[in-house]
Amino acid sequence: MIKKAFIFDLDGVIVDTAKFHFIAWQRLATSLDINFTEEENEQLKGVSRVNSLKKILEWGNKKISPDVFQSKMDQKNTEYLDLIKTLDTSDIMPGVHDFLLELKKQEQPIALGSASKNARPILKKLGIYDLFDVIVDGTNVTKAKPDPEVFLSACDQLGYVAQNSIVFEDSVAGVQAANTAGMISIGLGESSILKAADEVFAHFTDMPQNYINTLLSKKK
Ligand code: BG6
Ligand code: MG
Repeated sequence: MIKKAFIFDLDGVIVDTAKFHFIAWQRLATSLDINFTEEENEQLKGVSRVNSLKKILEWGNKKISPDVFQSKMDQKNTEYLDLIKTLDTSDIMPGVHDFLLELKKQEQPIALGSASKNARPILKKLGIYDLFDVIVDGTNVTKAKPDPEVFLSACDQLGYVAQNSIVFEDSVAGVQAANTAGMISIGLGESSILKAADEVFAHFTDMPQNYINTLLSKKK
């Protein structure tokens, strides 16, 4: 039986937390008198917390001391955690749970490859933590997406090579990371944004029947 490493991003792929990251960043930007748009937010998808704040400050042309920087990061995360406190199984994005269960049935290896430091508690809230054989998140990596470290570490820990790995991503930075690693990149979202992905779907429910089999024989 053919096997491949199936690596999932979290925010915007498994759960629609991208909107909560946006709200929390927007409140933070406002507190610094910075105008922060949805287009700018698109560029923050997949980007680590620290790099996101650096970019917002750069766009707003603002300089803050290291102490204030740290407190603003904490403030953003507190707001974000408050926004996601009621997350549960019903917040899993359409088709994702069935897709994961089908992979389990076929005994395919599953990993998480996320920039978020909140990934583990979120997976637990969603009730799908145990479906993952390997979890690589913002607490394990030193180089943020678009660097491929997070995905390379995930496939390595699963015991697979990059060429036999498939990444599911909603962000431009994440698709770039998967492509740089030499992995198949499946975009979730808009094809006009995720142009570099090997294939793009709006949702997992838009994938054709038996798509897992298609992916198992797909080459980069
Ligand atoms: C990514 C999100 O998954 O994680 C980004 O797309 C977020 O928006 C990043 O900034 C870091 O997340 P966290 O939960 O550690 O602040
Ligand atoms: Mg994402």
